[in-house]
Amino acid sequence: MTKLLLSAALALLPPLLAASSSSEDFDYYYLVQQWPGAYCGTKQGCCFPDTGKPAEDFGIHGLWPQYTVCRRDASDAAAADFDIVSATRKRDWPSLSCKNTAMDFWSHEWEKHGTCSGFDQHGYFQQSLARKARHNLTAILPCAGIVPSDGATYHLSSVRDAIREATGFEVTVECNRGASGRRVGQLYQVYLCVARDWSVLINCPEPVNRQCTDKIKFPAF
Ligand SMILES: *[C@@H]1O[C@H](CO)[C@@H](O)[C@H](O)[C@H]1NC(C)=O
Repeated sequence: MTKLLLSAALALLPPLLAASSSSEDFDYYYLVQQWPGAYCGTKQGCCFPDTGKPAEDFGIHGLWPQYTVCRRDASDAAAADFDIVSATRKRDWPSLSCKNTAMDFWSHEWEKHGTCSGFDQHGYFQQSLARKARHNLTAILPCAGIVPSDGATYHLSSVRDAIREATGFEVTVECNRGASGRRVGQLYQVYLCVARDWSVLINCPEPVNRQCTDKIKFPAF
């Protein structure tokens, strides 16, 4: 009886109200990880002056809240009090850019995305690193026979399947083009989608494919 009443009430909701309440459900985080072999294997190249060459491992690009209302204030954005550079952060969140130091990179991510994330500065980095360790792409892909190689190509679908089987959820995959500019994409970034309350992963919303061809490279680093 209660159920019936409830569904009758829902059916009467004006469409606008229904739409705005469902947009709340799509408030989530992207945890974006980049593959250094694909970042470096482009015309722009890469540099790592202050952290040394990173391991052949996915590195965090950033934790990006999606569609949250961002209230920045000057004290939030201040990066001057940046806390101790932990060894984990150096290893799992390295800068690959020739224009920025790792400190510049972290400050940028904190100022642009972290200040809107609901975490304080320490929490932003800690939670991102913990989440990365929990869903370790560098371990997941080789388990499915997807190993870094300059020769091999892989089906995009097998990359997606491997990550879905390991994490239980659909991710967004972004590709870029190699230095020779050939058409085949290379696996550049993987976006895990995390629920707004940070408790669980969720399926990433469409589009889940960014510039990937059906067959892609996973270049060695
Ligand atoms: C992820 O897995 C790789 C390969 O097994 C390992 O070298 C790396 O330390 C792991 N990363 C984390 C953060 O646990």
